[in-house]
Amino acid sequence: MFALSEPSNAIRNFVRDWAIEKDMPFFNARSQEGWLRTLMIRVASTGEVLVVIQFKEEHAEAREALLKELDEKFPEITTLQYVINTKQNDTIYDQDIITYSGPGFIEEAMPKYSGAGELRFKIGPKSFYQTNPEQAYELYKVALDMAEIKNDELVFDLYTGTGTIALFMAEQAREVVGIELIPEAIEDAKLNAANNRVENATFYAGDMKEVFTAEFIAKHGKPDVLITDPPRDGMHGDVVALLLELEIPRMVYVSCNSATQARDLGLLAEKYEVKQSRAVDMFPQTHHIENVVQLVLKA
Ligand SMILES: C[S@@+](CC[C@H](N)C(=O)[O-])C[C@H]1O[C@@H](n2cnc3c(N)ncnc32)[C@H](O)[C@@H]1O
Repeated sequence: MFALSEPSNAIRNFVRDWAIEKDMPFFNARSQEGWLRTLMIRVASTGEVLVVIQFKEEHAEAREALLKELDEKFPEITTLQYVINTKQNDTIYDQDIITYSGPGFIEEAMPKYSGAGELRFKIGPKSFYQTNPEQAYELYKVALDMAEIKNDELVFDLYTGTGTIALFMAEQAREVVGIELIPEAIEDAKLNAANNRVENATFYAGDMKEVFTAEFIAKHGKPDVLITDPPRDGMHGDVVALLLELEIPRMVYVSCNSATQARDLGLLAEKYEVKQSRAVDMFPQTHHIENVVQLVLKA
């Protein structure tokens, strides 16, 4: 059930064999030599497949040949994209992503918390989405159970990605506010809200420590409940400091890195008490987990 979804293996094996046969070299990060850099394959629960190939430099003829063969051999691929990245590092967030075929995004579907219908999420190549969609649903249910949202409450979703947690919880809340670094992800979050007819969600793009500030709270109100789901580095010290200052009645901290979560919880312990903690097996057969913690303001 939790094996890598096909056609992922077939695609990566095809690209590897193609490169060996055509004598097109794989990129070596240490020597910075080679051509084929990274291959990203995302298979959505809707069956849509997004493939992004990253090349170190442009070899138009070879690139065109590879993309054409891939496109023809795998009709399952709904969006095929590529990046020419001449930088030293592999990150594609600051790169132009060129669409070879398809609409340039995939759609995920997730049942609603209420069980009535589903939410659809548009996901572009630069947007975060949980790697294991079935377990993402389990994770979000645990997070929402711990959030104990009432329908007159204002909820913040920090590090919202494409707005998935915010939209999942919007049905329970008066209003939700999502904040996220990647502007393209926030564009997707806004579209996802409109496509799912969610009218009580607003989204803001920017670095958390610069957007989530006392001024932001003065403008948008103090949340009754806050969900935070930071990247592996955990939360910036300024963000933790504001959470201590704000004294929010309930918070839920979702983390894929227990070490940084423990560090942040240690800092938050000055004002907040851990009431519940539950791990979700998001990455089966690895030592990684998602851990969800409910925090309440100390009396
Ligand atoms: C673990 S993901 C969570 C995404 C979302 N909650 C979900 O479940 O799909 C962390 C998110 O934090 C964003 N992020 C990373 N650094 C950030 C920063 N400094 N400020 C705001 N968002 C940041 C990433 O782009 C990513 O979307």
